[in-house]
Amino acid sequence: MDFIVLTIFPEMFVPFIEYGIVRKAVEQKNISVKAVNIREFAEGRHRVTDDRPYGGGCGMVMKPEPVAYAIKAAKKENQDLKTILLTPQGKTFNQNIAREFALFNGLIFVCGRYEGVDERICHDFIDYEISIGDYVLTGGDTAAMVIIDAVTRLIPGVLGGAESAQKDSFSDNLLEHAHYTRPRDFQDSGVPDVLLSGNHKEIEKWRHETSLIRTFLKRPDLLKNRQLSSPEVEILRRWCIDIEKIIRSQSLHGADTLSGSQ
Ligand code: ADE
Repeated sequence: MDFIVLTIFPEMFVPFIEYGIVRKAVEQKNISVKAVNIREFAEGRHRVTDDRPYGGGCGMVMKPEPVAYAIKAAKKENQDLKTILLTPQGKTFNQNIAREFALFNGLIFVCGRYEGVDERICHDFIDYEISIGDYVLTGGDTAAMVIIDAVTRLIPGVLGGAESAQKDSFSDNLLEHAHYTRPRDFQDSGVPDVLLSGNHKEIEKWRHETSLIRTFLKRPDLLKNRQLSSPEVEILRRWCIDIEKIIRSQSLHGADTLSGSQ
């Protein structure tokens, strides 16, 4: 997978590819990351990439020509590349989009700065407008890094264990189960017995159950999009019954009376 990043700060990507899984993926040639300075495509002695907005107002806008030339040059190397504009107005990035992107031959990222990029670029040169969340960054560069990171780990051969990416959080709208490692006791807190039992079937069952319950507690919105299996429905039912029992025993002990008397 080829990642080409069009930016006015290409140096930001030098340390990015020097660590961890991204570095390994580059070394193994699973990916290539090339950061191109948009300024190289700007005209004039000062190679200006921004200008004042038509209609007035504060801030500057990225000029269309340097961005368009940079995209065209990137596409000359590989026609198949999809172009992504990083903008807070884009579709919110998630694991499904990461999976979709991981199937492409390569991606060109257009990293906006200032108030944004001239609208004509968005219309004529961009396949996807993507945001990494509902907040405004000073530019699209860190957003491009987030996407490159998330997509890279989905490329076959990048992660060690074949199943590592399959069992991730968000696979099939479930969060991943809890993880524990040594020491067995840490700050008066132990490890669930089942994980020490060596019984792989029970361990799998426990992991599945905790993964379902954590999703229910932390991200109930995900469960709405999951087709629950009948054992999963059963697990949730059992939890409902247990919660109901706790509520009942509380009211028997007078919890209502206490709060009512305050
Ligand atoms: N540029 C500025 N804010 C952004 C965001 N939230 N996502 C992607 N690109 C951006």
